[in-house]
Amino acid sequence: MIIAIDGPAASGKGTLGKRLAEHYGFAHLDTGLLYRAVAGVLIDGDVPLTDQDAATAVAQNLDVSHLDNDSRLRGAAMGEAASVVSAYQPVRDALLAFQRQFSVQEPGAVLDGRDIGTVVCPDANVKLFITAAPEERARRRHLELLRRGEQAEYETILADIRRRDERDMSRSTAPLKAAADAVTLDTTDLDPDAAFQAALAIVEAKHS
Ligand code: CDP
Repeated sequence: MIIAIDGPAASGKGTLGKRLAEHYGFAHLDTGLLYRAVAGVLIDGDVPLTDQDAATAVAQNLDVSHLDNDSRLRGAAMGEAASVVSAYQPVRDALLAFQRQFSVQEPGAVLDGRDIGTVVCPDANVKLFITAAPEERARRRHLELLRRGEQAEYETILADIRRRDERDMSRSTAPLKAAADAVTLDTTDLDPDAAFQAALAIVEAKHS
């Protein structure tokens, strides 16, 4: 059983993915962390993010065992950097096999990202496209960053989110978009519990 979750920045995909995975006893992969980790290695090595060959080599040799424990990866700067390296086709190719392998484990897997329903798992049993108004997404991300102790201005975050969505939607390789057979869930007016219940209802309806 594969649940694919896609959507724009800070739409709540990660939280939903985690809760759905816990509910069903499935494994969960936040695929954004893979791109964030590639960017992190380049930044640590003072390699420009525009160096596509270096980014590809990093993606091909990425150590995926510590991703969940690296809180630095979840910072705002890393999200921005991730969206630069994620536009390179060879980087995406290098990360594809790992994501596909992850998706086929029993009893099931939940993957969240931008291209899970369209490219990584086109045959997923359930595809969700999670969205919310940019202002609401910026409000949530602002709170999240403040809680993490990061300096964050709401207006800057909103601008970052708009720029990153634009980049993710307009790139030629695996652009952010809902798969034709995805169910779209707008969480603008839903708190995390309500969003989870709505997503659960969609999964149950698809799967019964
Ligand atoms: O948490 P947030 O939605 O802000 O970001 P993320 O899901 O960690 O993704 C960071 C960046 O990685 C995105 O802006 C995308 O450019 C890229 N990404 C991607 O291209 N494909 C994925 N499957 C996941 C992330």
